[in-house]
Amino acid sequence: MIDESPLAMPQSVQKSRLTTKQLQILLVLGSSIIVLLLLGLCLHFISSGAFDPWAVGINTASPRQAPPPCLSQACLKAAERLSASADPFAQPCDHFLFNCGPKEVLSSGGREKRRGEAEGQSGRMQGERWSNRGRNAGRARETETFAVTPSVQSAQRTAVLQLIREILESTDRPGSEDSAEQKARRFYSTCMDTERIEKAGPEPFLKLIEKLGGWAVFGKWNRRDFNATLSLLMKDYFTFPFFNIYVGSGPSDNNTGHQQKYIQIDQPDIQIPVEWISKKPIPISRKKKVQDLRHFLLSRVQLLSLLGVPSSSTSQHMGMFIQLSSELAQFTSPLLYRLQHQLLYHRLTVGELQAQAPAIDWLGCLQASFHPLTVRESDVVYLHNLPYITHMSKIIRKWWFTKKFSHSDTLHTFMILSLLNTVIPALDSRFFEIQRNFSAVLGNMEEVVPRWSHCVQQTEIGFNTVLQNLIRERVGVAEAEDLMHSVYSSLKSELADLPWRNQNPSILHKVMSLSPRLSPYTEFTTKEKLDEQYSNVVIIEGDYFSNYLQSLILQRKNRNKVFSHMSISNTLAVTPHLTGNEIHFPLGMFLPPLFHASFPRAVNYAVLGMLMAKDILHLLMPHIQAQSQAPETVSQCVWALYGNLTGGPDRAQQAPITPAQRWETWAQYSALQIALQAYQDSLTQLEDTSLSGLYHNRLFFAAFLQVSCDFELHYDHLPFADSFLLATICMKSDFCPQSMICSHNIPEHFKQSC
Ligand SMILES: *[C@@H]1O[C@H](CO)[C@@H](O)[C@H](O)[C@H]1NC(C)=O
Ligand SMILES: *[C@@H]1O[C@H](CO)[C@@H](O)[C@H](O)[C@H]1NC(C)=O
Ligand SMILES: *[C@@H]1O[C@H](CO)[C@@H](O)[C@H](O)[C@H]1NC(C)=O
Ligand SMILES: *[C@@H]1O[C@H](CO)[C@@H](O)[C@H](O)[C@H]1NC(C)=O
Repeated sequence: MIDESPLAMPQSVQKSRLTTKQLQILLVLGSSIIVLLLLGLCLHFISSGAFDPWAVGINTASPRQAPPPCLSQACLKAAERLSASADPFAQPCDHFLFNCGPKEVLSSGGREKRRGEAEGQSGRMQGERWSNRGRNAGRARETETFAVTPSVQSAQRTAVLQLIREILESTDRPGSEDSAEQKARRFYSTCMDTERIEKAGPEPFLKLIEKLGGWAVFGKWNRRDFNATLSLLMKDYFTFPFFNIYVGSGPSDNNTGHQQKYIQIDQPDIQIPVEWISKKPIPISRKKKVQDLRHFLLSRVQLLSLLGVPSSSTSQHMGMFIQLSSELAQFTSPLLYRLQHQLLYHRLTVGELQAQAPAIDWLGCLQASFHPLTVRESDVVYLHNLPYITHMSKIIRKWWFTKKFSHSDTLHTFMILSLLNTVIPALDSRFFEIQRNFSAVLGNMEEVVPRWSHCVQQTEIGFNTVLQNLIRERVGVAEAEDLMHSVYSSLKSELADLPWRNQNPSILHKVMSLSPRLSPYTEFTTKEKLDEQYSNVVIIEGDYFSNYLQSLILQRKNRNKVFSHMSISNTLAVTPHLTGNEIHFPLGMFLPPLFHASFPRAVNYAVLGMLMAKDILHLLMPHIQAQSQAPETVSQCVWALYGNLTGGPDRAQQAPITPAQRWETWAQYSALQIALQAYQDSLTQLEDTSLSGLYHNRLFFAAFLQVSCDFELHYDHLPFADSFLLATICMKSDFCPQSMICSHNIPEHFKQSC
């Protein structure tokens, strides 16, 4: 045992020596492998371009390391999309004229044209929010064989709807049953429970009629005071049979500071089909008129039979109902006619209105409608069709007080059918189908939205503030505000640099004095306040009809808020709008795939930053047009360059452009520049992250190219790819790599003039 130890020693020493030798070899091998690996990596990066000096941004002269990659869930998704699209930097420079591949070919002619109307309060209050459904459906039919690029706004809108759906369907937020948030969820889930709604059939509506004192078509009716019934419909059911009421600014609204809000009284949304010849408010060709009336009558008969009204009673009442409807409709007129004949914004006090249209108890109706706010006789209201209102008053007198008509209770039937129209979305699907079939024969194809989307929108009507609060929690507010402010300040300096026609352009003043805000405001409300606000709202499990009635009351209360707030923000809005001296950016804009708090800023600036700048330019466009020649010059230059690069002036002339396209060209070109400049400025303050190995300007360009391929960005179709604008910008700035500038193609004089 002892002998072994000396032997053992050298052995182990030998062993360890060997190990050292091995180690040395290993070290050499290892380090050369590492060196090789590093070399390979470098080569890889160089070939993929990540080490291009220009990619690092103009502010640093020497290359530095790539910023850390963004690995958030949202970024991983974005990286996937980015790598799935064609690499814009893989090809020679003329690639920038055709970057999206075959999609471009398909989309020509199939591109959506879109100009969203401002989501005005009056429209919102009158339930016009879905009025463009018909148009969309028509377009979809026209182009269904094409893979149409969706408009960026429709993508944003879908993103908001999806997010609200997620919020409403998630179960991981146990809160008190009585919290506003739980009420919103309960409302949504009863809306989704179609089985129960179908099972209930017309029953909930029949009960409601009974509660309101019956209906002559069923043979029993407690003839109640006309004014009382009308007030009740306005107060509790947000139903306006004979005239519309909403809240809005006065006619001299010139967007400066706080505006006073007034009650507005308008003609109603008449259900009987009326079509106007351009000037006179009379129905169109007799044949079509007769046909339309027949369909209208048929649809009312179908509705009554669903309600179980005996057919003898139906025929007795429907003739009179149609007569009353057409008498009322005769005095309605289209907006354009009323504008030309100065029928809009007729100013009266409530007392004066009472004298002009005595059949309605105006003070009583307005007080009911704006309860608990007070309305006085001396309050000013604005009328938008006084001739209609005075005739309506005469018609009501005639139908209520003269013997010949009054026995038929047609005015009451008219009110009940208006109420039915209001609550149809809460009844079983047959009711809705009758309405839809009727719209379809009049030529308004309504798009069938999925049930969840319908329910999200219904929930939003009553619970908009609750949902806005929940959305706010999920949007990176700090990042959104940074983006908003830095884009706006870059826009200000871009506009300040434009040559203006006169020394002191008023639009510049306006731009400088506007303050951008996320809407709704941060300080809008707290959870506790919301719970309190909704404390009287009873949302019942499994009873959608009664919940729907609750949401009608909420809708009315919402309208009253217009008096005290500058505006009610629409949760589903996705474009900025001007209010007083603020410019509001709705939260719904700040959602993936266009924005995420964790995205590298290069992506957020290139995509949403550019879109924001473009939207602002569009808002200001009329003023800019009036005060500067610059947009005209710039877009002419861009178009000339396009012609030159794509085969001479012939090519440019082949596609004559409209003034709208010229302005769109300038807006897009400038927006891109503004966003790029804003990004450069933000880079000087704070390092960015990377995505898919791309970062800084290069990621900015890649993200812009991707969004321009994925979505239709323009209000007016432009024949060139957006990448062309990028090439134009590169031509005159040092933000881009040499390879993108294509100097051999570009005549020198363009570099000066654009
Ligand atoms: C616009 O606002 C200014 C200042 O508030 C006011 O003096 C002017 O009368 C307004 N213009 C119109 C047309 O109402
Ligand atoms: C409604 O009330 C007004 C004002 O009190 C009254 O003049 C009018 O006759 C009433 N209308 C009907 C149809 O009863
Ligand atoms: C509506 O129209 C469709 C197709 O024309 C028809 O199948 C359906 O029965 C109609 N529904 C009602 C309730 O009339
Ligand atoms: C582009 O412009 C240059 C300089 O004006 C001109 O020489 C060239 O022929 C033009 N190219 C085409 C294709 O029009």
